[in-house]
Amino acid sequence: MSIHPLAQTLNETLNAGNSIAYSLLSRKGKGIYFPSKGILGQSAEAKGKDINATIGTALEDDGSPLTLGILEEMISTDKSAFLYAPSYGDPTLRTRWKEMLAQKNPNLAGKLYSTPVVTGALTHGLSVAGYLFADEDDQIIIPDLYWDNYDLLFEQGYGAHFKTFNTFINGGFDVPALEAALMDGPVGKRIVLLNFPNNPTGYTPSKAEVTAIVQVLVESAEAGNRILAILDDAYFGLVYEDGIATESIFAPLADAHENILALKLDGPTKEDYVWGFRVGFLTFGFKGATEAQLKALESKAAGTVRGTLSNVPNISQALLLAAYSSDVYEAQKQSKYNTLKKRYDKIVEILAAHPEYADSFCAMPFNSGYFMCVKLNGVDAETVRNTLLEKYSTGVIVLSGLVRLAFSSVPLDKLEQLFSNLHNAVMEVKG
Ligand SMILES: Cc1ncc(COP(=O)(O)O)c(C=O)c1O
Repeated sequence: MSIHPLAQTLNETLNAGNSIAYSLLSRKGKGIYFPSKGILGQSAEAKGKDINATIGTALEDDGSPLTLGILEEMISTDKSAFLYAPSYGDPTLRTRWKEMLAQKNPNLAGKLYSTPVVTGALTHGLSVAGYLFADEDDQIIIPDLYWDNYDLLFEQGYGAHFKTFNTFINGGFDVPALEAALMDGPVGKRIVLLNFPNNPTGYTPSKAEVTAIVQVLVESAEAGNRILAILDDAYFGLVYEDGIATESIFAPLADAHENILALKLDGPTKEDYVWGFRVGFLTFGFKGATEAQLKALESKAAGTVRGTLSNVPNISQALLLAAYSSDVYEAQKQSKYNTLKKRYDKIVEILAAHPEYADSFCAMPFNSGYFMCVKLNGVDAETVRNTLLEKYSTGVIVLSGLVRLAFSSVPLDKLEQLFSNLHNAVMEVKG
């Protein structure tokens, strides 16, 4: 594959000073560029001209978007939401999200990181990360309890392979297992994928564990490894216990070491309860990065968006921007957090009140997010799942031999019943 001159320019910018960013790019990542001189670039140059016959949106004779009345009546935002958004995302929304990142992660203060590029929610952001950095047969280091869609995204999508490490030890995150996975094999490229609050476990590391995770990543970087840390922050902000990290690991990693490129994926899907809007963000940071290098990474990401979705729905971006500018946004968000936190507290209370449940299952560590997992005692999880469906009218997910309970979708007053059904189903299967 020949390298386009625009990609070449981005690559030279990224490679300046031997930076980590260029050396981690996949073959596709080296080849991708934002087509700033093609249709998009020529359209930009024609903006404001008397006659602009450049871009493929339809306009009325008065220059406003040519739209169907039936849809216009349903849409309360500005009519411009009918038009394409830029492939980088709505610039005002990008800037707003960056400001919000700084507010939500005070440890980002004074650090240089890219302006977020808008993706078609986190799944697409993860795929863009795979496109840019994962080559066929690359290994991705990941805890053994992970969201199953990563299989499709990285293994099926880009031919990468997971190198899993043990997730929990002594009720906490198994940092030594991460360290061993990082140090295993010859010095070279390492891709690490971390997701907190975690799906499926609902676990977020304590502040001390975050420090330890950052430390082993830095030690591995010191040893000469070139590390891409992909941080899937889909459930950011939903932490229910004191002492647990409330900031993304992106904050300490964004300037941790010249050999660590941090890539944060986040978005409103779960944070703002807009699963169907399909908006996410992808943000880069690495120690010693220049503004030009961060812009070059943004261009690589936006080029990938252009070549996959073209751009992300403008209507969703417009609605979110309006919400983020509203003075009721924070209070409403807090109230929805409270709904989930109450369910979490209730589960903790139920588990404490029923020591007999230990005969049928034990809870895995959990403190955040939408889920928790239990390990069943001496019975097959799939058999219990089917018993729950058939005899208890209760649906759960079985994965990696565990039962995942999404308390995000179970009303508070049904949680007692959920756990009692689970206990009874296990006892029944045990005979
Ligand atoms: C860990 C994790 N990452 C990413 C996603 C995908 O989010 P989105 O709907 O924004 O694509 C999910 C959704 O279930 C998830 O659990």
